[in-house]
Parts: sequence; structure tokens; C-alpha cells
Amino acid sequence: MKLDGKNVIVTGASSGIGAAFCRSIVAKKGVVYGLARRKDRLDSLKKELGANFHPVVLDITDEAAVSKWVDDTFNANNRPDALINNAGLGKFGNIEDLSLEDWHTMMNVNLNGVFYITRKLVPHFKASDSHSHIINIASVAGLMGNPKISGYNVTKFGLRGFSEALFKELRFDKIKVTCVYPGSIATEFFEKAGAETHSHMMQSEDVASTIVHILETADNFLIDEITLRPLNPKPPES
Ligand SMILES: NC(=O)c1ccc[n+]([C@@H]2O[C@H](COP(=O)([O-])OP(=O)(O)OC[C@H]3O[C@@H](n4cnc5c(N)ncnc54)[C@H](OP(=O)(O)O)[C@@H]3O)[C@@H](O)[C@H]2O)c1
Repeated sequence: MKLDGKNVIVTGASSGIGAAFCRSIVAKKGVVYGLARRKDRLDSLKKELGANFHPVVLDITDEAAVSKWVDDTFNANNRPDALINNAGLGKFGNIEDLSLEDWHTMMNVNLNGVFYITRKLVPHFKASDSHSHIINIASVAGLMGNPKISGYNVTKFGLRGFSEALFKELRFDKIKVTCVYPGSIATEFFEKAGAETHSHMMQSEDVASTIVHILETADNFLIDEITLRPLNPKPPES
């Protein structure tokens, strides 16, 4: 799709790769609806990006609020063109130390929130005359299990299955579905996860340029899955 004038919804727009996606899509003259809970972060992104960026303070785990926002915002004269399901978090630790609250938060944001917004936007995508695109940001944790990230693994493996099912379900409705599996990226993610960062991570801008490429592919050309990694990752512990 040509991004000029297209309506793109980005969840988790207030920091990290989500904010980078907003910058890159607005640079291509796309119109971005950036969803997140931290109003101050969205407000400063609005100052930076101007008229083509619409800040939307929304908790994607609040199904009623998500549903209302979609109903209030989109209609036959203003259709969404793309959805980037990016909001997500990890809580890391040994299984016996993983709290019920952290488990449920991961399930609610990384899976339930994705379901709530996707199910509301798909009818608009189906009604649209042009092609639409759903991009789900999973993780390499959606491809392989590892110690101390079991709960996070569950959500990203789940997102992988959701993406593959939707890709097959929606392809004949002119709706593309792409699942992205990034390795480590320098964002706030690791601090929130309670894990160490390192100096060999990917940069958000580079991930964003790949997302723009995926969105801009020709209508009958689908990248259904893509893995992104630092070429030279953190050396193994010696
Ligand atoms: N960083 C990595 O190494 C890495 C690797 C692979 C995959 N990922 C995935 O990339 C995605 C983005 O993460 P990031 O690295 O950019 O981390 P980040 O900077 O912590 O961004 C997470 C975003 O999710 C939003 N969010 C969290 N809970 C939300 C909720 N209930 N409702 C709405 N928004 C919510 C946050 O906004 P608010 O707090 O303002 O609501 C924030 O904008 C996540 O899905 C993550 O799993 C990250």
C-alpha cells in the first residue's frame, strides 16, 4: 500500500518501537492513530509529528473502551487501512516466582488486547475498497521457549498461531496479515521485564524501516512472517 493518506493504527505508540513506527509512517505522509496509556508521552509525540498523528489514550485491555473508540472513530467515510498490534510486555522470572498478576497482565495485553481491537477493525477492513494490513509484533520468543520467559513465551507463541490463522482466513478479503519476530531491541522493554539490557541490541528505527517496507509491498505480495535479529548478538556467557 502507498502510505500517503492511509489510516494506520499503532498500539503501544508511547515508547520504543511503537513510537518509531509512528515517526516512520508519518514521514511517509500516513495518518497515525497512536494508542497507549501514557498521555504525556503521546502528547510529546503529537508535538513532534503534528496533524497526521492522533494521540489516543486507551488501555487495550479495556474491551468496552476499545470497542467504543473504534465505533466513534471509523465509519464508511473514514476507514482504517492498517493495524499494527505492537503493545506488549514481558515479565521474566522462574515459574515459581512468576506472580498471578504478572501472568494475567501479559495474557491481557499481549493476547486479549490484540483480539479486542482486531475483531473490531476487521469488519472495516472487509468493507474497504482497498487492501488492508494487520501486522502483529511477536518476538523470537514466539519461535522458541527459553528459561525464565515461560509466560511471555505463551503469549508470543499464541500470537504466532493467531497470525497464521488470520492470514489464511483473511487473505481472500484483501487483508494481509504479517507476524514479526524480533530479537532484542534497545527500548524500555527489558527494564520493565526485570531483565538486563546489553550493548548489541537492534535499534527501533531499523525495525521501523522494515515495518514500512512490509506495509509498502505490492497488493498481491505478502510477507507473512519475518524474523529480525542483531547480526552480532550478546556473546554467550563464558
Ligand atoms: N524490545 C525488545 O527486545 C522486543 C523484542 C521482541 C518483541 N518485542 C515486542 O515489541 C513490542 C513493543 O515493545 P517495546 O520493546 O517497544 O517496549 P516498550 O517501549 O515498553 O513499549 C511497550 C508499549 O506497549 C504499551 N502498552 C503496554 N500495556 C498497554 C496497555 N494495556 N494498553 C495500551 N498500550 C499498552 C506501552 O504504552 P503505555 O505504557 O503508555 O500504555 C508502550 O507504548 C511488544 O509487544 C514486545 O513484546 C520487543
